[in-house]
Amino acid sequence: MNFGWHFTPGFEEKYLPSPLEKYETVDLPHAAVEVPYHYFSEEDYQGIFTYEKTFDAEDWEGKLVYVRFEGVMLTLQVYLNGVDLGKRVSGWIPVTYLLPSDILKPKDNRLTVVVDSHEDPSIPPFGKAVDYLTFAGIYRPVSLEAVPKEHIETLFVNGTQEGKLSVKANVTGKSQPIFRLYDGEKLVKEFTEAETEIRNVHLWSLEDPHLYTLKATLENGDERTVRFGFRTVSFREKGFFLNRKKIKLIGLNRHQNYPYVGPAMPKSAQRDDAYLIRHFGANIVRTSHYPQSEDFLSACDELGLLVIDEIPGWQYIGKDAAWREQFQRFLEGMIEKERNHPSLIAYGTRIDESPDDDELYGKAVKTVHEQDPYRPCLGVRNFKNSHCLEDIYCYNDFSCADTQHGLDHPDTVRGAKGKPLLISEHNGHMFPTKSTDTPSRRCEQGLRHLRVINDAFRYDRIAGAIGWCAFDYNTHKDFGSGDHICYHGVFDLFRNAKPAAFAYRSQKDDEVVLELANVPTPGDNDEALLRPLWLFTNCDSVSFYKNNRHIKDFYPDKKDYPYLPHPPIRIDDFIGDLFKEEGFRPHDAKILTEAFNYVGQTGIAHVNKAKLLRYVPASIRNSLSMDRLLALYYKYMSGWGEKMVSYQILGFKDGKKVAEREYGPVTSYRLEVTANQDHLHNGETYDVARVKILALGPYFNLCPYADEALRLETEGPLQVIGPKDIALVGGGTAVYVRTLRTDKPAVGKLIITSGLGRQEVVFSID
Ligand code: GAL
Repeated sequence: MNFGWHFTPGFEEKYLPSPLEKYETVDLPHAAVEVPYHYFSEEDYQGIFTYEKTFDAEDWEGKLVYVRFEGVMLTLQVYLNGVDLGKRVSGWIPVTYLLPSDILKPKDNRLTVVVDSHEDPSIPPFGKAVDYLTFAGIYRPVSLEAVPKEHIETLFVNGTQEGKLSVKANVTGKSQPIFRLYDGEKLVKEFTEAETEIRNVHLWSLEDPHLYTLKATLENGDERTVRFGFRTVSFREKGFFLNRKKIKLIGLNRHQNYPYVGPAMPKSAQRDDAYLIRHFGANIVRTSHYPQSEDFLSACDELGLLVIDEIPGWQYIGKDAAWREQFQRFLEGMIEKERNHPSLIAYGTRIDESPDDDELYGKAVKTVHEQDPYRPCLGVRNFKNSHCLEDIYCYNDFSCADTQHGLDHPDTVRGAKGKPLLISEHNGHMFPTKSTDTPSRRCEQGLRHLRVINDAFRYDRIAGAIGWCAFDYNTHKDFGSGDHICYHGVFDLFRNAKPAAFAYRSQKDDEVVLELANVPTPGDNDEALLRPLWLFTNCDSVSFYKNNRHIKDFYPDKKDYPYLPHPPIRIDDFIGDLFKEEGFRPHDAKILTEAFNYVGQTGIAHVNKAKLLRYVPASIRNSLSMDRLLALYYKYMSGWGEKMVSYQILGFKDGKKVAEREYGPVTSYRLEVTANQDHLHNGETYDVARVKILALGPYFNLCPYADEALRLETEGPLQVIGPKDIALVGGGTAVYVRTLRTDKPAVGKLIITSGLGRQEVVFSID
């Protein structure tokens, strides 16, 4: 049902009797309005839009036929062959319509869907300001389902660490299903009871997210399948436990929007986001601030990425009954949609950062406990004292205002007394960081995240910390940088990693990470200082060289980041061994090294009396004139006039060299083009690849100020999503390309032309 819809902005009564054939043909997921990357208005996509799909229903005699919309922003009015089937709210939850048998024809049925994307104040999150956007369209897939009158409406499965399997099937009728449990293709057990025991279960864990399938079948052949995992989650005052193993939850919040098309992206792009978040070291993601795509959640199941979800909202609670009833419908819809995902460990039942409202939230907690007895619920606040009706107190801790302080002491979060405590946001607006910012700022974003993560490990009482946020996101005029983007991501909107993403990745153990978080370009810093270099790394030590001559070895900064699995390494001596050749006495060499490093990294204006009293005598003892001092400074610190200054960094683990980086003058750049996948498949809907384009210098470093213009063209059944003339932003961008339908396997090409020449990315498409 996802290919070949007709689409037009607006709605007129005449669309009902006469097909929309002459209008544009589109595929789902679809953005009703494509917006620029930034500098647009939230008014641009608010409106009415008509979609129409023609379909046959020949083989479905005697069956009930449903159409299911996974996600439509915001409301939809559905007509079948011109007959009104009613208006519903979808937003972020699926909506299902029964297609009446007296209207349904064997052939050429016309399903007309009128989408209204106005920000309706009677529907959460609307009513006040909202720091995110709700792009219009049928933005998630649509499916048709034909079932017998007696059928399984819903199936809810829970498997525990001990192998206890509980199944709840809602059947429209008296029959009871037979349940079959499969491990891959292998039938493990057949049973009919609502509870059974499975011996020697293969558990679902972060390292090995093993999935089982449960099939429920009625005698009439109706069947429903659920993929799930055996695992037990519990939040306690002492933290979070998965299968009784304590896990510090370290992760990121995710908004679901992509460039140009908002959330209208199919499975492969959703999976790609989950992969990036997991691959860069997070073990948890919060679907802030609304239920997200089933494809995203399924990817989390497969990748071992834990999830906490959240009801749509943002700080505001509506007073009128309609708003509050819609809140409750969203909550019930979210639980029903998400309760089979093993990655989901708790429901966010409270509007993000909203005030206490015991009536609304008391009911929400009750709903969770009734509908899903296996998972706790949580509530996110940005204040420390509050009624905590939920099972878990979540607190957005924005106390990190520099690199010296991470999180407030957990005891100060008084409302959390007697409850588990999870930090659901930190950083974000406290330190917006663009890909075009200076190296020091980009590095500091990472250090600030590390400082918080350090404190999350420090306090046993804190279950974990989830940073704000994974990806930069488009937002309302009231927020962001005046261009409708909040630059709060550790990745940019195109999913290119900022150094902060490597701060997360450096905490992993399954690969070597050695990322130079800020490059030595003094001219980029105030006072032209050669600021200390930071490495986000899991190496045990690094050896630092200048022009291939050893300066000094450096070790993880355990003083400032004692609780991190892998503290970053700070390089703050650019002279080290090199000074030996000047022949100063060792004691004086030490003082002069200190003096040059201090002046070079902190600035001459900051040399106080005590320092002068230490530095000046050492200069006098060695008869260093001002000219000589300057010459030494140029040679060892600034490199001015030196033929070439390049730095080499060797990373060591267990005494072995495991990584090597180099940085020197960047005199040119090239475009590195990589696609996240090169085989694309049209399945239930079109497929998408993310083609990353980075301007890289001779040392594989990103050139953040390269703003090369690019022209994009495609050949074969492939299309660029968004504009075809673009420029690099912060030295990089990404192009999402999508497939078109094809009868036989084909080759698609993305051709990128720039001042640097022509580059091609080839895809096989079926
Ligand atoms: C929080 C809010 C988020 C986002 C963030 C920016 O207060 O929950 O949605 O606005 O601030 O840092």
